[in-house]
Amino acid sequence: MKKLASIVLLLGLTAMVFIGSGVQVAAEESGSKSNKVLNIAHRGASGYAPENTMAAFEQAFEMKADMFELDVQMSKDGELVVIHDTKVDRTTDGAGKVKDLTYDELQELDAGSWFSEKFEGEKIPKLGEVLDEYRGKIAILIEIKSPSLYPGIEQKVADALEARNMDKPNNNKIIVQSFNHESVKNFHSILPGVPVGVLVGYSENGISDRQLENFAAYAQYVNPNKAMIDSELVDRIHAYGLETHPYTVRDRVAAQYLLNAGVDGIITDYPDYVDPHKQ
Ligand code: G3P
Ligand code: CA
Repeated sequence: MKKLASIVLLLGLTAMVFIGSGVQVAAEESGSKSNKVLNIAHRGASGYAPENTMAAFEQAFEMKADMFELDVQMSKDGELVVIHDTKVDRTTDGAGKVKDLTYDELQELDAGSWFSEKFEGEKIPKLGEVLDEYRGKIAILIEIKSPSLYPGIEQKVADALEARNMDKPNNNKIIVQSFNHESVKNFHSILPGVPVGVLVGYSENGISDRQLENFAAYAQYVNPNKAMIDSELVDRIHAYGLETHPYTVRDRVAAQYLLNAGVDGIITDYPDYVDPHKQ
């Protein structure tokens, strides 16, 4: 009888150790929450270098941002390219829609001179180039831009991550987001291991509990226009187990306001405006 009790006790202890380590692994894999507010360079450090170019991403890295954001679209011949507008006119010396130009045609464009002569010759990067260059160096927030123009773009983004073994739970080294919430859901169903966020454009109606409940069913982040943020909204977002990285900070006062409201990250053109000493 005494021997039986010892065996039961031993089995129980073994099970506890096993379950305990499983919980720890799960916590590590899902990315533990930290008190640090993430400093996220918007389109790279786009206050200092032309947005969505390697120069802007390098600037973000050099400024020690925690993460940079980029916008991904698709060329006529199906390459994933990093550019914000659906037309190339504003940020290059070319004209026309991204979706009507081949990758080779996009490569001929100068994506730096519009910002400053100093950046003449910067190119529109491929998503794959950016992932290859910055993987393991800095976290990346990928926005799928205007996905309704690019059927299948979610699968292509997933393929680019999978090909580089960046599709596993990754402590939020990669986050994928979009204003198109169906696209976010679609991406999540393809690669459930990669955390996703929903972008929310400004609305004076705010964000309802019902919306937060819906978002929490598939997303980890709800990222609204900064004008919607106050501490009450941040608390409600947290109550649903979500985190928030509002956009886009272009002055120090706004950065401090968001820090005071308790946000989890700040998307900014100026990474130096998010002062870690004031957190
Ligand atoms: O990451 C958020 C922010 O990039 C969303 O707005 O227009 O700059 O892509 P937009
Ligand atoms: Ca963006």
